[in-house]
Amino acid sequence: MKSKTALITGASKGIGKEFARIHASKGDNLVLVARSGDQLILLKNELEAHYDNIQIELLIKDLTKPESGKEVFDELKEKNIQIDYLINNAGIGEFGLFVDSPWSRLEEMIDLNMKTLTHLCHLFLPEMMERKTGKIMNISSIAAFQPGPMMAVYFATKSYVLHLSEALNNEAKKSGVTVTAFCPGPTDTHFIKDSKMEKSNFMKKTKPASSHVVALAGYKAMMKSEAVSIYGLINKIIVFSVRLTPRKWVVTLSRKVQG
Ligand SMILES: NC(=O)c1ccc[n+]([C@@H]2O[C@H](COP(=O)([O-])OP(=O)(O)OC[C@H]3O[C@@H](n4cnc5c(N)ncnc54)[C@H](OP(=O)(O)O)[C@@H]3O)[C@@H](O)[C@H]2O)c1
Repeated sequence: MKSKTALITGASKGIGKEFARIHASKGDNLVLVARSGDQLILLKNELEAHYDNIQIELLIKDLTKPESGKEVFDELKEKNIQIDYLINNAGIGEFGLFVDSPWSRLEEMIDLNMKTLTHLCHLFLPEMMERKTGKIMNISSIAAFQPGPMMAVYFATKSYVLHLSEALNNEAKKSGVTVTAFCPGPTDTHFIKDSKMEKSNFMKKTKPASSHVVALAGYKAMMKSEAVSIYGLINKIIVFSVRLTPRKWVVTLSRKVQG
């Protein structure tokens, strides 16, 4: 069977790195994107040492830059690399009051979590639909299901990712292409420290899941063409209980949980 090439954004660490390891374990090819070239080279060396004959392309990009999505697309076209699975995983967060959060950080979050993610879908989806094969997985979060005081922009970006993915899945699925929104809960990665989430009440009471286990669940959901996949039973219960709670209470409870 022909090797399937997966493009994974944010593959230098955390959940994205685990997606890369899982995909490589099938003997399939990879395009890995992130800013940390040194980390990507280490991962490429690790995977090439384990698996014979896999092709790994590295693209060192800052995906907050407006032209970055198009650069990724054009560079792959030039090298004649076809993408079978697009995994839009790169994302950042920021814990704190909206008014205290630096605008530069919020703008980067909007550009990375939503704008470039959407651009990459817009660039790769038409070709997949034409070929009548391909899969996209966008990494959302359980944050997508309610407003999130203290992480207002992050929660809103993840709602956007969830709703965009569900709508694209509806539009694309007749062609045989599927779009999965994967929604992890707290996961043991650099994200928690980088987004200052350690300060939240939620994180003080939560044991984050392993990034490998979370990535495995996401990868399986994408392969099964699930429209929305929430990782873990407790997270599923949280999301379900939000649905049953009156909307005006949801935001108050969300604030209590965040701190
Ligand atoms: N960890 C959690 O608790 C959790 C829960 C729910 C959802 N998620 C979501 O899961 C996804 C992966 O997060 P993670 O937990 O694995 O976080 P992580 O360990 O911090 O990894 C984030 C990845 O995104 C890349 N990235 C960050 N800024 C970038 C930029 N400007 N351009 C290109 N790449 C960039 C990072 O690479 P470089 O720094 O090398 O660029 C890194 O590879 C995110 O979308 C996050 O929102 C995480």
